Amino acid sequence: MTPILEIKEVTKSFGKLKAVDALSMTIRGGECVAFIGQNGAGKSTTMRSIAGLSSVDSGTIKICGVDISEDPVEARRHFGYVSQELDLYSYLTGEEFLMLVAQIRGCAPDASEREVDQLLDLCDLQKARKRLIREYSGGMARKIAMAGALVGKPELVILDESFVGLDPESTYKLGKYLKSYVSEGRAILISSHILEMLHAMCSRFFILHHGACVADYSLEALNALCASSETPDLTSVYLQKTGQSDLIGISRSF
Ligand SMILES: Nc1ncnc2c1ncn2[C@@H]1O[C@H](COP(=O)(O)OP(=O)(O)O)[C@@H](O)[C@H]1O
Ligand SMILES: [Mg+2]
Repeated sequence: MTPILEIKEVTKSFGKLKAVDALSMTIRGGECVAFIGQNGAGKSTTMRSIAGLSSVDSGTIKICGVDISEDPVEARRHFGYVSQELDLYSYLTGEEFLMLVAQIRGCAPDASEREVDQLLDLCDLQKARKRLIREYSGGMARKIAMAGALVGKPELVILDESFVGLDPESTYKLGKYLKSYVSEGRAILISSHILEMLHAMCSRFFILHHGACVADYSLEALNALCASSETPDLTSVYLQKTGQSDLIGISRSF
């Protein structure tokens, strides 16, 4: 089976700074992958490169077998992406935006209406569906952006810090939806600092440090690590793998 995402030896520098350093990662259908790392670790740069919005210095990125730099139009048919700095059509209503994405993705009109309705329900945005996106709160804007990435059910959904500012009930509902989204051969790559949520939602945990992979655990492998008293949760595993073991337990000692 062709992987949903195949990154090989990708490097990207900004001047002297190596933001992404010979990074390789393969994601297959059925995987919900947590992308974890400190501020500046290179998560957004990697995600922007996957989405074809940032060129890479070397290496290759394929989505469903299509090279993003060779055939970006075809590659874009296979993924939805929410950037960290939201870039939305502020003068469309939430409903117009979702219908536009559905149209661009070639969904049948009646099926689109049903799906858009379901996504608005999922995001608790039914009451705001006819309002302009520019009037949405930060959390509402992130939710409509996520709904946009999910319309038409692309094989890969890339979410860069999309849970920032969401209320607890939306976090739960969307997290549950995303967990089930990866069935039928789809995949998700999600960056977040809400590590408890990632642990509950994801099936794989990829830790990035200075642009390079320092850990790539299955849920089973992570749970085995968390069974030890040294690293009882994902936060402590992350701190250990990023050379910050001295900070383990610090959040309990304010
Ligand atoms: N356009 C840019 N110009 C210069 N440096 C950048 C640019 N984008 C990102 N960087 C740098 O690349 C590194 C990785 O950034 P980023 O991928 O945004 O990290 P993360 O998303 O993990 O917080 C950081 O040191 C950041 O300052
Ligand atoms: Mg980022």
